[in-house]
Amino acid sequence: MSSSQISRPASSIRSRVLTGITTTGTPHLGNYVGAIRPAVAASRRDDTEAFYFLADLHALIKCGDPARVERSRRELAATWLAAGLDPDRVTFYRQSDIPEIPQLCWLLTCVTPKGLMNRAHAYKASVDRNVETGQETDDGINMGLFSYPILMAADILMFNVHKVPVGRDQVQHIEMARDIAQRFNHLFGQGRELLLSPEASIEEDVALLPGLDGRKMSKSYDNTIPLFEGNAKQLREAISRIVTDSKLPGEPKDAEQSHLYVIYRAFATPEATASFRAALEGGMGWGDAKQALFELIDGELAPMRERYHELMAEPARVEALLQIGAEKARKRAAPLLETLKDAVGLRTTTTVAMAPAKPKKKASKLARFISFREQDGSFGFRLLAADGEELLYSSGHATPQSSGALIQRLRAPGALRDALRPAAPHYELVVDGAVIGRGPAQEAGVDKVLAEVAALDADA
Ligand code: TRP
Repeated sequence: MSSSQISRPASSIRSRVLTGITTTGTPHLGNYVGAIRPAVAASRRDDTEAFYFLADLHALIKCGDPARVERSRRELAATWLAAGLDPDRVTFYRQSDIPEIPQLCWLLTCVTPKGLMNRAHAYKASVDRNVETGQETDDGINMGLFSYPILMAADILMFNVHKVPVGRDQVQHIEMARDIAQRFNHLFGQGRELLLSPEASIEEDVALLPGLDGRKMSKSYDNTIPLFEGNAKQLREAISRIVTDSKLPGEPKDAEQSHLYVIYRAFATPEATASFRAALEGGMGWGDAKQALFELIDGELAPMRERYHELMAEPARVEALLQIGAEKARKRAAPLLETLKDAVGLRTTTTVAMAPAKPKKKASKLARFISFREQDGSFGFRLLAADGEELLYSSGHATPQSSGALIQRLRAPGALRDALRPAAPHYELVVDGAVIGRGPAQEAGVDKVLAEVAALDADA
């Protein structure tokens, strides 16, 4: 579990940011410039703790094609990693791997006024379309779409983040998340701010990339330039299809009016942009301009593309990274969810009832497991000797259930003895090949642990 620890000291972190990427399509150059590149850059800052996730539960709202959802999850994970997202620095996970999120979603659903959802843009746009085309108002609208902003609020509030970098179209959703957080706090907080109100941060200087035909680059316009799909040749082909005017080589071109120039600018330094502009105004032909643009973009993308294809060829490697991310995320989510469940009256007993139905006197002569809520909010257990000395302590778990399940396993006759491994100068608890606990830091205990474990086993 140490692999899931954040490597920077918590004190250097001033703000937490989070953003989600819906896994429906294959990312294109516009996604890269508008979202992926700025987010990767932001994730390298030392003063922020970043959460990036694949919003695959959101994907189900819009996409009923399982193969497409699956492929998109893989492509997006590989894209973000290839583009330089460092999973050691940020928490990178898949929404559907965090069961706490849909649970929180339900708690929030129960405090969200239906009227608030009636006003959501995505829902209203679908209703308007139905009205225009003479259909029933709610034709083809599922409850996922209707309550989409609540799931998004759960994504955000689950990690008590301060800032959510999003496009303008998402600002309303962040405002709704604030409303919902405030309402929950008001109803259940008893004066505490259980949920933090997030703020949208809109990147003003992020480029909106035009597509091949000059309209915003978007899959729905069929005007995209691929990001990592395919190879350099396909990138060159796409670039050759950028629409230009019919001016011939030698004729001066109006750079500002040309979206080829706008795309160039999104990848070049200000100096390179200025000389490209001067060359166009001086009569550079469109063919040469496209070649220059290709070289510029391919220079940035080629190493990433190679990494992308490597990652796509090794799904297990990506999966392992996502699982570490999920573990990291759940360690944060589970304690907050426990607090919120407490607040609404769904109290859980964190002490797992382990004591066998035996006379008290006898039990007190044996070692015993006790469950703990650690200071960092995770759940773990200790094995205490009959005299109360701490013999073993476990690693932290995201939920009391997973810690409890391990205790159950270790209580099986012989299991604890089998799990003990000497690890000089102490010992470790190994289950299924993973170290799940350790002996305490003092030298003495080894014989004592063995004796106590033998007594426990004899009694089992
Ligand atoms: N709805 C967002 C989009 O379509 C994706 C998303 C889901 C998201 N959950 C989020 C973005 C939480 C920011 C925060 O772009």
